[in-house]
Amino acid sequence: MMYSKLVLQHFIHPKNQGRLKNPDGVGIVGNPTCGDIMTVYIKVKKDKKGNEKISDIKFETLGCAAAIATSSMVTQMAMGKKIADAEKITRQDVADELQGLPSAKMHCSNLAEEALKRAIEDYRSKSRKEPKRPIGSKKHQRRTRKKK
Ligand code: FES
Repeated sequence: MMYSKLVLQHFIHPKNQGRLKNPDGVGIVGNPTCGDIMTVYIKVKKDKKGNEKISDIKFETLGCAAAIATSSMVTQMAMGKKIADAEKITRQDVADELQGLPSAKMHCSNLAEEALKRAIEDYRSKSRKEPKRPIGSKKHQRRTRKKK
């Protein structure tokens, strides 16, 4: 199996590898056939215009060279992007950026964009659910005390 130079570079020196503290979104994808598993962590910040952008991103991948290289590449591609643009990244985009992937690895290992999409979904569902006033805030406590 022949890997491109870029795949080997990202495998040997992966970018953005690790875990983020207090991520805004987490996406996990596994391949049950080979047991590879990828986790993508994102932080999202709004810019002055109100666009939600990926301000930080990291990955943890237990898997083959291609799985690590695609994870590394997708984090590089998504860093700093609006989340609406980041979720448009496709498997083919990731493979193209890596100067191609062996066809056997295209569907087996190229799961990183899915992990990114799940992290964005997770961020969205959390921001929807977030209470307007956190439980335990002063106003909440005051109200609770009045009821007694
Ligand atoms: S061998 Fe299946 S994802 Fe790497």
